[in-house]
Amino acid sequence: MQHLMSPLDLSVEELDKLLTLANDIEHNPKKYAHACEGKKLATCFYEPSTRTRLSFESAMLSLGGSVLGFSSADSSSASKGESVSDTIRVISCYADICAMRHPKEGAPLVASQRSRIPVINAGDGGHQHPTQTLTDLLTIRSLKGRLDNLTIGLCGDLKFGRTVHSLIHALIRYPHIRFVLISPEELRVPSYIREDVLAKNNIPFREVERLEDAMGELDILYMTRVQRERFFNEDDYVRMKDFYILNRKKMSLAKEDMIVMHPLPRVNEISVEVDDDPRAAYFKQAQYGVYVRMALILTLLEVNVC
Ligand code: NCD
Repeated sequence: MQHLMSPLDLSVEELDKLLTLANDIEHNPKKYAHACEGKKLATCFYEPSTRTRLSFESAMLSLGGSVLGFSSADSSSASKGESVSDTIRVISCYADICAMRHPKEGAPLVASQRSRIPVINAGDGGHQHPTQTLTDLLTIRSLKGRLDNLTIGLCGDLKFGRTVHSLIHALIRYPHIRFVLISPEELRVPSYIREDVLAKNNIPFREVERLEDAMGELDILYMTRVQRERFFNEDDYVRMKDFYILNRKKMSLAKEDMIVMHPLPRVNEISVEVDDDPRAAYFKQAQYGVYVRMALILTLLEVNVC
């Protein structure tokens, strides 16, 4: 049985197959409408989420399956002190597959070791968020036509942003990828990623503080929110929160075919005036998130649709 803890759990070939399946689902949704009839997805969310949980639920419903679950630790037995290991053993009796989000790094991995059903990491603390990465890769491949030969600007909270960490891990497997890491000094990418992932694999990257200094060279600008819930004190958050605001003026410095992505939720980092720019791809990205989660559920449940 296969689980998904990190984007690296899938080889480049497996990923390619999954993204192709997601595109087929996008273009032929009816073909898949009954693929998971009789199957149940459990969403176990110990941390708030709108998009990830609802996109999983939407994905399973679009496959003809059903969903059950909880959306906060307070409404689960975690509030009574139950461990994730025990919870997943019980959930294994109720559902066929589980998507789990947890504030503690590694919690979904612990659950997967005790589980009798496939477990998908739907975000663990500041660590990884593999299904957001699948969404991001599908968006890039669909809109840019390739996953290689790209200069990607990652902007905002690169320290706590788990979507950024997962995306870097996934993209370095493709040829000629270059990163521009755009963040304030205090929110730089963690050194384990800078040294052990980027430098060790000879991936070209540079770090800048000003968005304007990077705009002109980017094929993709990936904006992120300052992760308030991971700060130790509110004052630091308040000082950092509006460090970047992407607006029309800054967009005028970008290439005609650059795309702007954001895992959402957005706070102030992208002005709403950018939403009408044809290069704004973040709402399309949310739609791709459903197709790719449908493809993932089919793959992990080993359901084949001819
Ligand atoms: C992201 C997350 O949860 O890490 N959101 C999401 O899954 N779409 C990004 C964020 O919360 O900033």
